[in-house]
Amino acid sequence: MPDRIVISSDHADIELRKTIARHIASMGWVVDDIGPMTSDSTHYPIHGKEAAQHVAQGKARFGVIVCGTGQGIMMAANKVPGIRCGVCSDTFSAKMIRAHNDANMLALGARVIAEGLALEIVDAFLGAEFEGGRHATRVDMIEG
Ligand code: RB5
Repeated sequence: MPDRIVISSDHADIELRKTIARHIASMGWVVDDIGPMTSDSTHYPIHGKEAAQHVAQGKARFGVIVCGTGQGIMMAANKVPGIRCGVCSDTFSAKMIRAHNDANMLALGARVIAEGLALEIVDAFLGAEFEGGRHATRVDMIEG
């Protein structure tokens, strides 16, 4: 699996997305920022699904996606088979969606949390490992 992370957003806060992209790159990951590059109004399902397809196709290990609440773009990403994406507004949840749910995407709400917390949440997500074992059984049940 490549040490790559795909990142995308809708128009809600492309500056937060760019800040997160720089932060992740500074940790040594290769970041594919697939936009959008302007703040023109757009549609979060387009960007959530596009990022999710990168992950599902193995082009990226993880995805980080941003919209106003994180909710809509998360819902869109989770429609792509193989994607397990959670919205997080706290670091504990960000750690646990990796440790117990083997999440491969993280969604953030730019109108919900401030930049500093967003970066801490990203750190918690990327710093955690899937624990496997009984959690793998349950994740398999999600995948059906
Ligand atoms: C866009 O205004 C807003 O609806 C979107 O960013 C997101 O919050 C949807 O879930």
